[in-house]
Amino acid sequence: MTIQYQCKISQNKIKHRIKEISTQINQDFHGKELTIICVLKGAFIFTADLVRMIKIPVKIEFISVSSYDGMISSGAIRVNKALTADIKGKHVLLVEDIIDSGHTIDYLTHLLESQHPASLRICTLLSKTASHKNKYKIDYIGFEMTNDFAIGYGLDLNGQYRELPFIAQVINSQS
Ligand code: IMP
Ligand code: MG
Repeated sequence: MTIQYQCKISQNKIKHRIKEISTQINQDFHGKELTIICVLKGAFIFTADLVRMIKIPVKIEFISVSSYDGMISSGAIRVNKALTADIKGKHVLLVEDIIDSGHTIDYLTHLLESQHPASLRICTLLSKTASHKNKYKIDYIGFEMTNDFAIGYGLDLNGQYRELPFIAQVINSQS
């Protein structure tokens, strides 16, 4: 697949925003311990950069889900790797790469709430607000996005482009 893309959010902007979000998280969870759950694969770079700015005690866990095939959401969410940690009574922060329709975050919220954490907050690098229309409570948002397909900084198109150090918008793709 050949695609063209253009940088939308630079490395510097991402770094600056992560600093702001981590400052907020450090304040909000002051005096508490936090379990951060990284939603694989897309959130791996965001989580890695975010946790290095967190000053409170944290445990980092992973869950892997998928719903997309290329640029189309299949709608059905598949858990590829289940959460292994016990989150009962823990303060949990779920870290996502992007919230589009909100189906994934809705699914994960119900899944995690059923394990009775002390609290559950959502942090996402990107939010396609026009798509999910603010139906879901998102506590920390890196950047609001248009509905264009985004790649880079962990986000993929058919498994590729995760390694781009910035966030780009796909402007043209041909199969
Ligand atoms: P949702 O369930 O529609 O909110 O989609 C959430 C998941 O779809 C995200 O965690 C991403 O993995 C993927 N996704 C949605 N939009 C994009 C995009 O623009 N680029 C890359 N992945 C996306
Ligand atoms: Mg994802």
